[in-house]
Amino acid sequence: MTGPFSTSPLGLGLATVMRLPGRTDQLRVLDAAYSSGFRHFDVAPSYGLGRAEELLGRWLASRSVDVTVATKVGLPPSRVAKRLARIQGPLRRGLTASPRLRQWVKARSALATAAPAAPSVGQIEDSLAASVREIGRSPDVLLLHEVPTDALGDAEVSALRRLREEGLVSHIGASGPSEVAELGAMRLATDSVVVQMPVDLRLDGAIDDGTKAPVVRRLRYGLLSRHLEPLVECLQSAELVRSVESLAGLPLRTRTDVANLLVLVAVNRWPGDTLLVGSTNEANLRKLGAAVHADERWPTDTLAEICRELQPYFRP
Ligand SMILES: NC(=O)c1ccc[n+]([C@@H]2O[C@H](COP(=O)([O-])OP(=O)(O)OC[C@H]3O[C@@H](n4cnc5c(N)ncnc54)[C@H](OP(=O)(O)O)[C@@H]3O)[C@@H](O)[C@H]2O)c1
Repeated sequence: MTGPFSTSPLGLGLATVMRLPGRTDQLRVLDAAYSSGFRHFDVAPSYGLGRAEELLGRWLASRSVDVTVATKVGLPPSRVAKRLARIQGPLRRGLTASPRLRQWVKARSALATAAPAAPSVGQIEDSLAASVREIGRSPDVLLLHEVPTDALGDAEVSALRRLREEGLVSHIGASGPSEVAELGAMRLATDSVVVQMPVDLRLDGAIDDGTKAPVVRRLRYGLLSRHLEPLVECLQSAELVRSVESLAGLPLRTRTDVANLLVLVAVNRWPGDTLLVGSTNEANLRKLGAAVHADERWPTDTLAEICRELQPYFRP
């Protein structure tokens, strides 16, 4: 039996932080997240061409911080990624300088990870051992990384449960597109499980909590990457802006205001969950941290009204 999984409402995703070319800047972003109230950090063996866990380990070793950490198993970096990792700094500087190169690489991003497949028992054990070496401690959560559930055998499910029973990790769970994460969590479920899934603001709260797995915490990603740009369009409608400003009690003039509003909608809508945010920008993290700290929860009918007003801008 594991205890509850308590952490902060905001978590930092290191896949995004690793887009920064320089180690010093990456560490600064982690510091900014921590000082802005982020207490959960999300990594995976494949993030940052295989270097994100090492970055987190270096940061944890040099700071006195109390945080929760999730890592994953099942989607290792590819051979191409491992080779590119050695020239990661100059490569990422090139990508920052050239939007065309960035687009070309993005279209081929699947090359950076091995094809998703169910890991064997040995691969699960080896992957966790490697993650512990890189991070410098056991993760609080070990998640299946976009692993197709039907490919997961009974022996692998037992191995993951055993890791938890033996105390090598506190929680196990599944991450990925909603169905993959929910079904994976159900397959693993004993008495508690963690689900990491994308935010979908189009769904009403009643629909997306349909899992039968005993979920101790949901970690949600993709809020800003999916919803920010469509929602920025709402700034064109003066009437809508006035209405949402008065309902939310917040200014709604700039892209930053829209990002803050989105984060507050998610935090109010799924209290008790953790929202994973990705950023390469310290100031952006500080603004989001301040918005959530200042948050006095909206009454349910206010939240419903804000969501109704914004619904046309909640796009897939
Ligand atoms: N299968 C999985 O488990 C899975 C899948 C996908 C992602 N993830 C995790 O989730 C994390 C989040 O990923 P995501 O891409 O979905 O992140 P996201 O937080 O939805 O979007 C990141 C984007 O939002 C921008 N942003 C952040 N704060 C902002 C602000 N205050 N104002 C304006 N823009 C802002 C960032 O730009 P700036 O850099 O300029 O701030 C970045 O381009 C990843 O790093 C990864 O750890 C997990």
